[in-house]
Amino acid sequence: MKFFIDTAVLDEIQEAQDMGVLDGVTTNPSLMKKVGVKDFHGHIAKICEITPGDVSAEITAVTYDEMMTEAREVAQIADNVVVKVPLTLDGIKAIKTLTEEGIPTNCTLCFSPTQALVAAKAGATYISPFIGRLDDISSNGMHLVKQIIEIYDTYDYETEVLAASIRHPMHVVEAAELGADVATMPLKVIKQLLQHPLTDAGLKKFLDDWKALQGAEEPAN
Ligand code: E4P
Repeated sequence: MKFFIDTAVLDEIQEAQDMGVLDGVTTNPSLMKKVGVKDFHGHIAKICEITPGDVSAEITAVTYDEMMTEAREVAQIADNVVVKVPLTLDGIKAIKTLTEEGIPTNCTLCFSPTQALVAAKAGATYISPFIGRLDDISSNGMHLVKQIIEIYDTYDYETEVLAASIRHPMHVVEAAELGADVATMPLKVIKQLLQHPLTDAGLKKFLDDWKALQGAEEPAN
């Protein structure tokens, strides 16, 4: 499973990159707003310098022609840019053309298996089902991930399933059990993945025992 970090905060991306387990980055306009980004292209370029992995940069145009213009510009920022396109009729048309042009895409805001099926037919590089936002409205985000994987496996679609809108480590565990290709998550969740109280308690005991051993007298044989 690939790990992407879901943020536009440069320090967080650098921290995740330094951990050595980062495969890419996803951003969206709301994450850009949180950071107060004014120069969108410049900010994406900085992210692409931090990581060699795929960096999803979301376009904000909504009509096909405008989407194509914006997507082609965004794709020029760096070799590892993936153009993030919303799952609308114009977005699907744009994904089809971008795929034909060899530009990778991340089809975002997916909330149903039918949407995911259309995105794969258009040739999207990634499909992003939003798990947490479905859970938020008492639906089942993980069931959607399962449905998409089953459909893609049945027809051998190459589109990668990118589990998005992840809120906690169990989302990652369940997405991994289902075989999702990618999980994108906040830095907090990436760090939570390796935490366990028994690891902390076990390490403390080992270190305490080691320290006591250094102070102990040589046992008589
Ligand atoms: C990533 O590609 C998505 O934009 C992101 O995971 C959405 O997460 P949210 O539902 O927590 O905003």
